[in-house]
Amino acid sequence: MARLGDDVVAVTGASGRLGTRLALRLAAEGARQRLVVRDPGRAPRLPDGGPLPDATTAVVGSYADVAGMRQAFDGVGTVFLVSGREGPDRVTQHLAAVDAAAAAGVERIVYTSFAGASADAVFTLARDHFATEQHIRRSGLRWTFLRDNLYHHAITTFVGQDGVIRGPAASGRVASVSHDDVADVATAVLLDEREHAHDARTYDLTGPTAMTLAEAAAVLADLTGRPLRYEEETVEQAYASRERYHAPRAEVEGWVTTYTAIAAGELETVSGDVERLVGRPARSFAQWLDDYPDQWAHLRAQKP
Ligand SMILES: NC(=O)c1ccc[n+]([C@@H]2O[C@H](COP(=O)([O-])OP(=O)(O)OC[C@H]3O[C@@H](n4cnc5c(N)ncnc54)[C@H](OP(=O)(O)O)[C@@H]3O)[C@@H](O)[C@H]2O)c1
Repeated sequence: MARLGDDVVAVTGASGRLGTRLALRLAAEGARQRLVVRDPGRAPRLPDGGPLPDATTAVVGSYADVAGMRQAFDGVGTVFLVSGREGPDRVTQHLAAVDAAAAAGVERIVYTSFAGASADAVFTLARDHFATEQHIRRSGLRWTFLRDNLYHHAITTFVGQDGVIRGPAASGRVASVSHDDVADVATAVLLDEREHAHDARTYDLTGPTAMTLAEAAAVLADLTGRPLRYEEETVEQAYASRERYHAPRAEVEGWVTTYTAIAAGELETVSGDVERLVGRPARSFAQWLDDYPDQWAHLRAQKP
């Protein structure tokens, strides 16, 4: 794989699951990077606790901190923009980060979007991603979009305290993907020595198969030895069963429409983009469970 030469790549969300994985891969490839974090104590470090080589850290309040983001992007050629935490001002935050990149003289953005991003996606948060994509297209910057399916990790978070995945997903399928595969693709795209090879390209990042939530629950039940299962809810039941969280309506809509998007087939398409870009098959849900037993160990202890 080629190196970035003099280019500096900024990794936003560097303290998160995806950002940390990407930062470690870029460091292993000898790339120069700027780690953009909100808490410097959570910037990624090498397994031995040492700092990443050829990395500087920029601390920002949030993506909406335009002055801070602009400073964080100073001298940066490429920004890897990790989408922000879900919230009412998420699109505003994303747009501000894009504007800060343009103002700082950044040339290229690689953005982590979402499967089926469109203005009228069933999954409401995929609409946020589409709005961000549109703003990036208009920014004049070179761009690449990585449209991630649900993360394998996210599937495990669907399991309730009682061992049941509940939602209106019907028998829809989800082609979930691992954070590692997304980070591998991002590394390949960012460090490709063929200049402009990934410009104006949208990649669909999925696992190798698409499963129903009943099948996912069965895999988890098998592994944990607990009777984990999927139980269908109507849309009305889904909103009612989530009322106890007292979350804002838009947030609950995001949760419920994750399931209705699965039912509508928005997450079912298996893409070959991971394999095409990294030269090996994408990791399956079962492989991910095998790789990260600590991520689902808590499910063993849940009392159905
Ligand atoms: N495909 C999926 O299944 C799925 C599931 C959940 C989320 N997502 C999206 O994918 C993104 C990456 O996933 P992940 O698993 O790496 O998430 P994660 O572990 O929660 O990491 C998110 C990173 O983004 C930073 N961040 C979030 N909002 C920000 C903001 N407004 N301004 C500045 N930094 C912000 C966080 O900083 P702090 O550490 O300081 O909070 C963290 O470094 C998420 O942020 C979310 O948008 C996708």
